[in-house]
Amino acid sequence: MIKVKKRKILLLPGDGIGPEVIAELKKIINWFNDKKSLDFEIDQELVGGCSYDKHGTPITDEVFYKALESEVIMLGAVGGPTWDKLEFSKKPERALLKLRKELKLFANLRPAICFKQLVDASTLKPEVVSGLDIMIVRELTGGIYFGEPRGIKPIENGERKGINTHTYTTSEITRVARIAFDLARKRSNKVTSCEKSNVMEAGQLWKEEVQELHEKEYKDVELSHMLADNCAMQLLRNPKQFDVIVTDNLFGDMLSDQASMLTGSLGLLPSASLGAKNKDGEMRAMYEPIHGSAPDIAGKGIANPIASILSFAMALRYSLDLDKEADILEKAVQDVLNDGLRTKDIMSEGMKETSTSAMGDAIISKLQ
Ligand code: IPM
Ligand code: MG
Repeated sequence: MIKVKKRKILLLPGDGIGPEVIAELKKIINWFNDKKSLDFEIDQELVGGCSYDKHGTPITDEVFYKALESEVIMLGAVGGPTWDKLEFSKKPERALLKLRKELKLFANLRPAICFKQLVDASTLKPEVVSGLDIMIVRELTGGIYFGEPRGIKPIENGERKGINTHTYTTSEITRVARIAFDLARKRSNKVTSCEKSNVMEAGQLWKEEVQELHEKEYKDVELSHMLADNCAMQLLRNPKQFDVIVTDNLFGDMLSDQASMLTGSLGLLPSASLGAKNKDGEMRAMYEPIHGSAPDIAGKGIANPIASILSFAMALRYSLDLDKEADILEKAVQDVLNDGLRTKDIMSEGMKETSTSAMGDAIISKLQ
């Protein structure tokens, strides 16, 4: 078999169950190296609370520069109650936000797919969620998460004032909207753009810019605008009306959590954060499971590694141009679920409960 160019993958397991799920992912990457002659070069570093404990900062310059040079970053999760009381700049989450912002990962793709094997795990009726396949495209480097001014300051009457600023520019809106339209063309060709144009100027601008881009370049795609609160409601009422949802950083944070729960399987959902392409056509990208650090179950060997493994399938597809390998990996996950293997989070009657590492091994055995 022909050896392809060395591709650098940086693993950042982070905190909580991050290290456990990334350990399984590592087995999968090594399988591809050994069995498919792919030349992934793996490196691993601390980020988040574990980095703070060792170095006094959630991400060291060294790790940050490594991330800058990596084509693909696979993140586990950061944060946990241990570090809740730290000042803002030292919190584990700052590492994540710094990576997103400095690597300019402006488009966050969060699929909400209801796996047919898990329809009953949703809190919604099976007929409402079966076959559900939504892609939320969340703007990731702007809006209220990063706007200035920000801070907490004393005011005259002895009270304090907390300040955050919500801003968006034309180009920040259009570049993420473009990703949403392009994705829609490969799916069911429908985009719903969400904002609060009824109360926020930045929301009004969002709506106008998306509309204008649509008229100029994407007339073939069906576009509708929806107020973000209505979208939250519609996601529960009739989620299958959506194909691609594009929205700002904060609304995207909330709507994607909500959408993920429709599927009943938070432990299965991957995500991709994509940046702009450089002149060589390479794009920075970070992939992570959406489930977070789940400190309550950390270290017990019961976490579900599937979301992190499916995040790697996204990396194969979006960063590494290895669609066939992505298909193989996604198929292996389906096969394992069809066999009735379940980690604790998705366990139901009649299924076989497995540990984190047994799940990883089972997926590898399906790859063979
Ligand atoms: C997410 C998380 C993060 C966010 C936190 C951990 C900073 O909730 O990725 O959705 O708010 O963006
Ligand atoms: Mg979130």
